[in-house]
Amino acid sequence: MTIPYLFPTCLMLHLTALVLMAGTTLVDYIAYASFWKSFEQQERPTALISMMAKLPRVAGIGAALLIFSGIGMMALTHGVFGEQLWFRIKFGLVILVILNSLLVGRRQGVKLQKVLDTGKPVFTGEMNRIRTNLNRFHLSQLLLFLFIIFLSVFKFN
Ligand code: HEM
Repeated sequence: MTIPYLFPTCLMLHLTALVLMAGTTLVDYIAYASFWKSFEQQERPTALISMMAKLPRVAGIGAALLIFSGIGMMALTHGVFGEQLWFRIKFGLVILVILNSLLVGRRQGVKLQKVLDTGKPVFTGEMNRIRTNLNRFHLSQLLLFLFIIFLSVFKFN
């Protein structure tokens, strides 16, 4: 039995989740830029920090929804996309997005939180390293999203 509109519903969820995850990454990037500016002036922007602490959860919900709606579409099409080149490359890039998020983004965020918990808002060598790593993390995530969207829309085979 096929349920009408199930595929377009999954696609709609997929695109909504994409907006949620990529949008949150961009907002996080902009928020960090403001945070570092305040930090350079030895200020501690508490409202900004508490807003930023909520973003990983929103991005996580987006990621889960992207994966589940994607798997849903694969199941509904009996895995036909899995044989196409664009999808194989896309899948590899999705894995990179997940690894980058877990191994770089989350780790650096936890490191920064620890430094903030222990002392005054002063720039140290470690803070500079965290800043550079987070900058690289955000830019690489945004580039990966752009490339995944490009592949998904053009569907080269
Ligand atoms: C960062 C993660 C992802 C992003 C940014 C993303 C983005 C997109 C975009 C922009 C489309 C094009 C929709 C259209 O043509 O109207 C699409 C389609 C699709 N995605 Fe994803 N996706 C992601 C993850 C996944 C995953 C993990 C799966 C499967 C396990 C998946 C399966 C699919 C399928 C099967 C389609 C084709 C639907 C169609 O056009 O008929 N996606 N995705």
